[in-house]
Amino acid sequence: MSSNLRISSHPLVKHKLTVLRDIATDHRKFRELVRELALLLCYEATQDLRLAPATVNTPMGEASGWEASEVIGLVPILRAGLGLVDGIQELLPTVQVWHIGLYRDEETLRPVEYYNKLPDEPTVQVCLVLDPMLATGGSAIATVNILKRWGARRIKYLGILAAPEGVEALSEAHPDVPIHVAELDERLNDIGFIVPGLGDAGDRMFGT
Ligand code: PRP
Repeated sequence: MSSNLRISSHPLVKHKLTVLRDIATDHRKFRELVRELALLLCYEATQDLRLAPATVNTPMGEASGWEASEVIGLVPILRAGLGLVDGIQELLPTVQVWHIGLYRDEETLRPVEYYNKLPDEPTVQVCLVLDPMLATGGSAIATVNILKRWGARRIKYLGILAAPEGVEALSEAHPDVPIHVAELDERLNDIGFIVPGLGDAGDRMFGT
């Protein structure tokens, strides 16, 4: 598999993913698990964030330390990517959030864009594209295309499950984009769903 792929080996990620997949997990619990998985995966995906030296005053005197020096943008792909925003905002309260609306045409499986309000010039230095499912990869590729046209330089993909087909397509189209996921599943079925997967993430999140 692609060298861009980073599968979490954290025990908490593995445990929470297993509960998330369970058909008996209800909408409320599903949303909670997605939020927690996003936070854990974001911790792993931000290990190379750049820092600048900083000094603070403790009650005992001066201490030298560090501050995150890059402006981070979260780019959730509507709808299901929304579920990943909350957990990451807890870790990174000052992020900018730029929504991209795409849905997958059920016949062609090609992404169709319906929402994009990015300003003319890029306002962030690192983009985290958020979408729980990397299936054919079409939605992720389209979003990275949009962000690169916008002028974004450092882009990472953060999701929960990937199919080999999606990893291959995204890596080929954008070899510079690392793919952070909780697990790589077996395959896509004939209607483009990840197997064994977790069903339709958007539907399970929003009760539709
Ligand atoms: C799902 C999922 C991804 C996309 C993945 O979205 O949330 O965005 O499909 O498929 P791909 O890798 O083949 O592009 P869906 O179209 O069901 O929209 P939703 O998030 O609004 O439910």
